[in-house]
Amino acid sequence: MVLYFSGTGNTQYIAKLIADGLNDECLDLFDRIRSNDKSPLYSEKTYIICTPIYVCKMPLFLIKYLKSIRFKGNNKVYFVFTSGGYCGSAKIQAKIFSIRKKLKCLGCAEFVMPRNYVANNMYSMDDEDVIRFKISNSTKKVKQVVENIKNEKKLKTRHVWLFEILIITPFAPLWTKYKLVAKDFYSTNECIGCRICEKVCPLNNIKIVDGKPLWGKSCTHCMACISKCPKNAIEYGNITEGKKRYLLKDYVNDKAM
Ligand SMILES: Cc1cc2nc3c(=O)[nH]c(=O)nc-3n(C[C@H](O)[C@H](O)[C@H](O)COP(=O)(O)O)c2cc1C
Ligand code: SF4
Ligand code: SF4
Repeated sequence: MVLYFSGTGNTQYIAKLIADGLNDECLDLFDRIRSNDKSPLYSEKTYIICTPIYVCKMPLFLIKYLKSIRFKGNNKVYFVFTSGGYCGSAKIQAKIFSIRKKLKCLGCAEFVMPRNYVANNMYSMDDEDVIRFKISNSTKKVKQVVENIKNEKKLKTRHVWLFEILIITPFAPLWTKYKLVAKDFYSTNECIGCRICEKVCPLNNIKIVDGKPLWGKSCTHCMACISKCPKNAIEYGNITEGKKRYLLKDYVNDKAM
């Protein structure tokens, strides 16, 4: 069973391609997370957990959710990461998670995909050529990963150095707590009250009040609201004005995206 969470489509795209290649079930965790559904999962086949990378790790809210559910049936798991290019210590996190859940980790695969983090001023967004190059490269890489998974081969990723772990371990949770927050989101006069932002938030953090979105306190900066607003009516402080939002579906022909 292929499981995924995706804010702007990159992880969904890779997860669906892998599931197609394996002829396996593909489950979007969005509804389960949003409704806090903690019923057990059951799969005869190996679990494949697909996730974006947030702040050099798998998103903390996702790990918290996955820790809270039971994985029944098969006890083997692969992890698939999509990132803008650096997965930090996610691989170590995956190993620790697997041990705690009594799952046998068969390795991780990393896919370099376009950067989606428009509400941040440390990294620029990728330009059009880079976006297309990354998607094309990752699409080609899926076949090789699928073959390895079919043959239950161990997946190998780059070595994570001790200094990376020492920096990321204290840094990531602090950054997540203090920086991945919704307080700077606001809607502009372009907002038509369509409620899409409210519906796409995995953490139920947006409510439409008097026809305009109001952001609550649980946000993970998944970029779904700001990137999926059909009117480009969401801004984040003074960081996002004039910046193009990224969505995978704008670059692939697949109608399912
Ligand atoms: C909050 C946040 C933090 C991110 N941190 C990293 C990072 O540490 N390294 C990296 O290479 N990309 C990082 N990215 C980029 C995403 O990992 C990448 O664009 C991913 O493919 C998005 O997947 P999605 O479209 O399925 O949501 C970050 C994106 C967000 C929104
Ligand atoms: S998605 Fe955009 S236009 Fe629709 S309610 Fe939200 S901010 Fe307004
Ligand atoms: S408020 Fe927006 S950025 Fe924050 S979790 Fe919800 S959809 Fe994602």
